[in-house]
Amino acid sequence: MSYWIVSYFLIVLLLKTNLAQDIQHMQVCIVQTTCKSCMEASNRCGWCSDWEYSNFTIGKPRCNIPERLIAFGCPSFAIKEATTGSVQLLQDENFQDVIIDQIPVQLKPQKIRIKLRPLSEEILRIQYRPAKNYPLDLYYLMDLTWSMQDDKETLVGLGWKMANTLGTFTNNFRLGFGSYADKPLMPYIFPGYEDNPCQAEHATCAPLYSFRHHMTLSGDVQEFIKKVNASDVTGNVDNLEGGLDGVVQAVVCGEQVGWGHQARKLMLVATDGSLHFAGDGKLGGVVHRQDFMCYLNSDGEYSMATEFDYPSLAEISRLLQSHKVNLIFAIGEDHREEYENIAELLKEKAHVATLTGNSSNILEIVEQAYHEIVSKVILRDNSTGSFNVEYFSNCGVQDGPQMPTSECNGLLEGHVYNFDVKFSLKECPANESLWVRIYNVSEVRQIFYNAHI
Ligand SMILES: *[C@@H]1O[C@H](CO)[C@@H](O)[C@H](O)[C@H]1NC(C)=O
Ligand SMILES: *[C@@H]1O[C@H](CO)[C@@H](O)[C@H](O)[C@H]1NC(C)=O
Ligand SMILES: *[C@@H]1O[C@H](CO)[C@@H](O)[C@H](O)[C@H]1NC(C)=O
Ligand SMILES: *[C@@H]1O[C@H](CO)[C@@H](O)[C@H](O)[C@H]1NC(C)=O
Ligand SMILES: *[C@@H]1O[C@H](CO)[C@@H](O)[C@H](O)[C@H]1NC(C)=O
Ligand SMILES: *[C@@H]1O[C@H](CO)[C@@H](O)[C@H](O)[C@H]1NC(C)=O
Repeated sequence: MSYWIVSYFLIVLLLKTNLAQDIQHMQVCIVQTTCKSCMEASNRCGWCSDWEYSNFTIGKPRCNIPERLIAFGCPSFAIKEATTGSVQLLQDENFQDVIIDQIPVQLKPQKIRIKLRPLSEEILRIQYRPAKNYPLDLYYLMDLTWSMQDDKETLVGLGWKMANTLGTFTNNFRLGFGSYADKPLMPYIFPGYEDNPCQAEHATCAPLYSFRHHMTLSGDVQEFIKKVNASDVTGNVDNLEGGLDGVVQAVVCGEQVGWGHQARKLMLVATDGSLHFAGDGKLGGVVHRQDFMCYLNSDGEYSMATEFDYPSLAEISRLLQSHKVNLIFAIGEDHREEYENIAELLKEKAHVATLTGNSSNILEIVEQAYHEIVSKVILRDNSTGSFNVEYFSNCGVQDGPQMPTSECNGLLEGHVYNFDVKFSLKECPANESLWVRIYNVSEVRQIFYNAHI
């Protein structure tokens, strides 16, 4: 899935202060022997970082009020001082819904500069408003082995209803379509059945193929229905399918599939079978690990299916993470446990929904998945070392207490949620190059798809 990421740059500066000629403070300062303890002792203390400074007089304190340091010969540019903290808004644009050619804004402010003294903290209110009208890209990846014939028919029958349903939550949605079966190799196919693998079922179907991309993401629902209707059902021997080959190609072939840069990306894998994993290719003599490149030929077919082994779940997990694609396994109840185990290994990027025998509940599954995405936000940052960021929110509960949390559930589009963010610094880093740092706070939205439908 893709997220809109509006980032914060927190520029943390440990900087100058003005000092009073205060004997008391001087006494506090001069006993400090490190920059760190000097900065922490008092905001009036300055630290002379000039190497040659203390060579003149043994015992001359490096930590002192700046006027004294200068009087003792410390060049003023070499004096490090701490300040009282401050927060400055550098960029604070208004929220922006999703409009063509406009970058949506969901976090406010966007850029701030914070000055922090060691052992101090600053609190800033950050507001989050889920933008309306998020684009949704839904790639429908269908197992088209023989037993899925009725599911295909259901989907054709539901086509327009699907368009209407999706249209109620975003008018920015696109549908794409691909299908998969298995590697066209023995033992996934009976010898002699290459041309019609459904002979055993006393039926006729198309030759076995691995993955075929039928339709690039588009708002044209009529085309989607047509493409699903025109796709060929095929057949293979067992109930294990090469779906993961299809997942990989549909993810990495960005140009052919047409994934939107800023859209939420959902891939729905509809199947009544199980999956082949890395290592299973050996049965058909396929031992090479795949390289996760796009290999679609001019017919949209995966052309290296008989050269590369199936991917492993670890590889799929990394792939989904890096391409921000969310997988929904829409599967039969009898496979639920198996796919839940798979989804667990794929972490938050995959979810399982139960498909009825003829896929008649597919719309509910899609709708739920979409709403689950908008319903949760997590704020994350890359703070390190002694710089610490904590989040507090009532998650939109009227008059509710501020709880220490960086995530809120059940968010509604267009509503504003407040986070009080506490920035603190435990100590002054010894390495001066770390005194000015840039941090990034970003929002991540996730699908938590656990509903049994
Ligand atoms: C001052 O002392 C430091 C080490 O204490 C030494 O590296 C530096 O060369 C000395 N500078 C002069 C000018 O003596
Ligand atoms: C799907 O099956 C259910 C019963 O299992 C039935 O009520 C429904 O009409 C079927 N839908 C389609 C589109 O065939
Ligand atoms: C699906 O294709 C068949 C012929 O292949 C056609 O008769 C039927 O009308 C098509 N259905 C839709 C909904 O396009
Ligand atoms: C300080 O940090 C910078 C960047 O992290 C590093 O290149 C440098 O070597 C460090 N200096 C010391 C004295 O540790
Ligand atoms: C945090 O992320 C921002 C943006 O990606 C980057 O510029 C910055 O260097 C990162 N800060 C740290 C401490 O890693
Ligand atoms: C901020 O962090 C997020 C998540 O790690 C990342 O996707 C985004 O590109 C970062 N922003 C910048 C400006 O580097």
